[in-house]
Amino acid sequence: MPIERTLSIIKPDATRRDLTGKINTRFEEVGLRIAAQRRIHLTLDQAQGFYAVHKDRAFFDDLCKFMISGPVVVQVLEGENAIAKNREIMGATNPANADQGTIRKDFAESIEANSVHGSDSPKTAALEISYFFNELDIVG
Ligand code: CMP
Repeated sequence: MPIERTLSIIKPDATRRDLTGKINTRFEEVGLRIAAQRRIHLTLDQAQGFYAVHKDRAFFDDLCKFMISGPVVVQVLEGENAIAKNREIMGATNPANADQGTIRKDFAESIEANSVHGSDSPKTAALEISYFFNELDIVG
């Protein structure tokens, strides 16, 4: 299994409820090391830039507004098969469809306020990691 890195975001609905520690435990329990982590309050420009791939979707404006409604925790997770493993433990985008025991099933409030984001491919992971972190910030 390849060692990969993936970009994770703990979203405002989760930071508001002080769930960062509980969510981080989920990562560490499955062998995803938190190789970089920063708590920040995104600007609208930063949120729109990060989600630019969704700019034509009906939910784009609301999503960006939600992402600046409170602090987020941006992270680099590192481990074997990190991209797929993180998506597995996050669960489906809509918590109503998420499997039992996943982060979104246990913590998410709605399809928008769904507690976590995780990169969906190696290409996206590289792009998303570089959006927030320099190579020197990442210590695996
Ligand atoms: P995320 O994995 O961060 O990627 C895009 C986000 O858009 C998604 O999680 C949801 O929080 C949000 N979103 C809001 N509405 C929808 C929708 N109808 N379909 C997909 N994503 C949505």
